[in-house]
Amino acid sequence: MMMNNLEYNSIRVSSPSNIAFVKYWGKYGEQLPINPSVSMTLQNCVSIFDIHFKELSDNPIENFQFESKENLKFKKRMNDFLISIKEHLPVLSKYSLSITCSNTFPHSSGIASSASAMSAIVFALLRFDNKDELSSKQLQKASYLARLGSGSACRSLYGGIVHWGASELDNSNDKFASPLNSVDPIFESLLDSVLIIDNKEKKFSSTFGHSLMNNHPYKEARILQANKNTHDLISALRDGDIKSFGRIVENEALSLHGLMMTSDPSVILLHPNSLKAIDSIKAFRTENQIDMYFTIDAGANIHLIYFEKDKNIILRFIRESLSSLCIDNKVIHDQYGNGPKVLSITKANFNVD
Ligand code: DP6
Repeated sequence: MMMNNLEYNSIRVSSPSNIAFVKYWGKYGEQLPINPSVSMTLQNCVSIFDIHFKELSDNPIENFQFESKENLKFKKRMNDFLISIKEHLPVLSKYSLSITCSNTFPHSSGIASSASAMSAIVFALLRFDNKDELSSKQLQKASYLARLGSGSACRSLYGGIVHWGASELDNSNDKFASPLNSVDPIFESLLDSVLIIDNKEKKFSSTFGHSLMNNHPYKEARILQANKNTHDLISALRDGDIKSFGRIVENEALSLHGLMMTSDPSVILLHPNSLKAIDSIKAFRTENQIDMYFTIDAGANIHLIYFEKDKNIILRFIRESLSSLCIDNKVIHDQYGNGPKVLSITKANFNVD
C-alpha cells in the first residue's frame, strides 16, 4: 500500500517586493504591460509563506491565515488566482493547501505586497514540485505565472535589477521578466529608505489605476518615453553613470504622477508632505553634492534612493529633516536584494508497506 505522510509535506519561503525605476503603468490583455519597466528587488520587505500540503479538496486553498488572522478577502484572491493557473502547477492536482503568511513590512505602507505575495506562492509551489533549485527556464515560468497574479510580481522572482516588457533589449518580452546582467557593481550598494507619509488604505485598485491609461491623451507619448527611459537607464546602469540613473528615476516618478493627474478621472495621490520631502531632497542634494534621488509608486510615500557610500550623512538627513514629515516618524530601510528563497522544505516519504 502506498502511504503518503501528508502532514510532513511543507515548504516555507520568503519572496521580496520590488521598487520600479521605470514604471509599469497601463496594461492590456492578460496582464501584459503597455511599456517596459525596470526595478530593483528589495531585501528586507518580504512576504513569508508557510505552506502545508493537505488532502485534495474542492479548493486549492483549505486554510489561509495572514498575520495570524483569517483573511477571507485575501484568501479568495489567492484561491481564485491559483484556480486560474492550476493547469501549470501539477502540485495543485495532488494537494490542497493550508497557508500561513505574513509580511515583514506594514500593511498600507505603499510597498507592493501583491508583488511579494504573488511571487512567493508561485515560487513555493514550483519549488516544492522540483528536486533542486529552480533552473532559469523554471524561473521564467514562475515569473510568467506570478505576472498573472500581479504584473509587478513577475519582477520579484529575481534578485538585483530586473526588466520586464518588450523593448529593444535582447530576450525582453511582455510575458515574463528577466534579470539585468550587465550592471556596474556600484548599483549593488543601492539603498532605499521609504518615507511613510501616508499609511491609509490605497484609494483605488491597481487594475483601476492601470485602466486610466486606456484612453489617456498622452498614451502614445508615454510609451515612447518609457522605452527611451528604459534604454537610457540600462545604459546608465551598465556604465555606472549615477547622475543619469538618478535623473531618469526621478523623471519616471513624476511622469507617473503627471499621468495620473491628467487622466480622466484624474487622481492626485501626492500629499503636501510628499512635495515638501521632494523639495528638501533636491535642496540637500544640491548643497552637499550627494547622489541621492527619489522615486514614488502609486501613493504618497517617497522612496529615497542612495548608495552605501553616503549612508551615514543621508541617515542623519532623514532623521533631522525628513522623518518629521512621516506618520509617527516612520521610515522603512531597505536595500538591493537577492530574490526569493526557500527557508525550509520537508517532503514526505512515500512508504511502501
Ligand atoms: C506604480 O503590479 O500592482 O507600482 O498588475 O494590476 O497587480 P497589477 O498592478 P501592480 O502595478 C504596479 C504599478 C506601479 C509601478 C511598477 O511597479 O512598475
